[in-house]
Amino acid sequence: MKIFVLSTVATATSLLCFAAIAQTSPAAASAAPIDPTTFVNQFEATGGKFAGYRRSGAKGICAAGEFVATADAKALSTASVFSGKAVPVVVRFSVGGGNPNAPDNAKSQRNLSLQFNLPDGERWMMGNISAPVFGSSTPQQLMAGLIARQPDPVTKAADPAKVKAFVDANPETLLQGKHYASQPVPASYGGVNYWGVHAHAFVNASGAKQFGKWIFEPVGGLQGLTDDEAKAKGANFLFDELRQRVKDGKLAFNFNLELAQAGDKLDNATVPLPEGRKKVNLGVLKVTSVSEDGGGPCLTTNYNPMVMPKGVEASSDPMLAARAAPYAVSLGRRLGEGAKQQ
Ligand code: HEM
Repeated sequence: MKIFVLSTVATATSLLCFAAIAQTSPAAASAAPIDPTTFVNQFEATGGKFAGYRRSGAKGICAAGEFVATADAKALSTASVFSGKAVPVVVRFSVGGGNPNAPDNAKSQRNLSLQFNLPDGERWMMGNISAPVFGSSTPQQLMAGLIARQPDPVTKAADPAKVKAFVDANPETLLQGKHYASQPVPASYGGVNYWGVHAHAFVNASGAKQFGKWIFEPVGGLQGLTDDEAKAKGANFLFDELRQRVKDGKLAFNFNLELAQAGDKLDNATVPLPEGRKKVNLGVLKVTSVSEDGGGPCLTTNYNPMVMPKGVEASSDPMLAARAAPYAVSLGRRLGEGAKQQ
């Protein structure tokens, strides 16, 4: 499948991968909250409906791992995840978009979702993506972009004029796709960086707040495929590659935090922190096992990024808070349909 996006016309599926896009009408950019059911309906209308699957990140696999924090992390935040003791993590790797048959050999989004199971039933959930920015700065812009890309019932394709008008009016929505287009196809789920894209506050024992944006960087470095290699690999190689890498004991990520400074933009997922910000290693996440295809503990959970431990707090980024309810609607639908993944 041709993914993305230097062109102004993306397929509906690719659109949902990086959820780029926006819309032309100024009214569409109003701050009126978007009903979560309407949001998920629009994901289906634009990207297709695949019963039982996540409405985004549909093609995925569960894994398990453990996280051990550094002393630097403990100094930044009182969160129990940073105690320095091993914390079990429910991991999920996926390809962006709502299509469970999305190809592994396209220049598209990969996801790393994590649920840290902390003492006393506390949890930390997050869904990270393989780009430093997201494709929309507000839920309204995301919704407007989905509407602009909805296939016409007759032609079964998006109207190029609507898409062009949208991206012309919302050029920042193309940045995420430009990142994927500039990178090789990842050779492995363990060979690419994953960014949190939202700012969070880390609160220490004296109550001081340090804002930052995090990145999971593979300890073994980045690994990409040439276009010929990607073609030869075919559409389904990432699950087997992951199993082999974990069997060899070679899958780990550094959990790093870029520290924000006064004046940095903290409320916009389309804007990374400026280059050169100090980076602190919060610890290492090791992936230790991979579940069978189609099953495992991540199948019936969701990675609601508003579930945070005491000691880590959300920024005012409107995209962060807006994720919780549509994720719950998607989870409810897929559980009702019979949860699946592949
Ligand atoms: C208002 C904005 C957003 C909406 C409406 C939305 C919608 C969704 C939905 C419906 C799901 C499937 C949830 C499930 O069934 O469990 C999902 C999954 C996901 N989204 Fe978003 N999303 C939004 C913003 C973002 C942003 C900013 C990121 C960037 C980090 C992101 C990354 C992910 C990832 C990584 C997954 C896969 C989670 C998993 O493995 O279960 N989303 N999204």
